[in-house]
Amino acid sequence: MEAMPFRAELGEAATLERQNRSQVVSSDWRAALPVLHAAGVTLRQLRTRDAAPLLAMLTTEEVTRFISPPPTTVEGFERFIAWTLRQQAAGKYVCFGIVPRGHEAAVGLIQVRALESDFSRAEWGFAVGSEFWGTGVFYESAKVVVDFAIRTIGVHRLEARAAVANGRGNGALMKLGAIQEAVLRQSLLCRGQRMDQVLWCILDVDWRREPPRFRMH
Ligand SMILES: CC(C)(COP(=O)(O)OP(=O)(O)OC[C@H]1O[C@@H](n2cnc3c(N)ncnc32)[C@H](O)[C@@H]1OP(=O)(O)O)[C@@H](O)C(=O)NCCC(=O)NCCS
Repeated sequence: MEAMPFRAELGEAATLERQNRSQVVSSDWRAALPVLHAAGVTLRQLRTRDAAPLLAMLTTEEVTRFISPPPTTVEGFERFIAWTLRQQAAGKYVCFGIVPRGHEAAVGLIQVRALESDFSRAEWGFAVGSEFWGTGVFYESAKVVVDFAIRTIGVHRLEARAAVANGRGNGALMKLGAIQEAVLRQSLLCRGQRMDQVLWCILDVDWRREPPRFRMH
């Protein structure tokens, strides 16, 4: 049988990936998410009492324009919150509530779900009440959650999909240093309409080398 040709660069890439994964900070995030702090905002696990404020923040016309429809009742959000905790305990998913300084309840959320069972490839999604758009609340939150996903969970490739027409969603991802890799044609069904989405990606190696544009904002 013909031997596989040895490719030195593959060996180096594998070593680098092993080194990066060995830099993962251990945390029992499956049992309980740590509280993360960023400028003017705290990120924490969702609580049942976030249901009503999240319903008010995330079900408006402008927030839902380009995302899969959120629950439409307080009970629906309560069930969603309970589901996030079960998924987290199973090691498949985390969801941080975004709590701006001076607030008690979450005004938005950032979700990260595993696309591979070891979480090496993951997808994230997010939404924030529109009164907080453009305030830096999302940007500051996103930086610490991406850092958590890469350094603590061990994500190698963090993907995001944003409807091409979603100016703020795409702008926010670009600001975070995500790279546009493709356009996924007709990949989102939203309000009965099929939309193209941009596939964005942040690689752990890029993030560790230089957390993007941290100094510019
Ligand atoms: C996506 C979301 C969390 C981003 O938060 P945000 O506070 O609006 O984001 P930011 O203001 O930090 O960044 C948006 C950037 O896009 C830019 N932008 C690009 N095109 C834009 C457009 N057509 N309209 C408005 N802003 C646009 C903004 O100027 C801003 O960049 P700047 O800070 O350099 O000026 C928030 O808009 C949201 O919840 N949207 C609804 C849910 C959603 O679409 N989720 C994303 C799914 S991928």
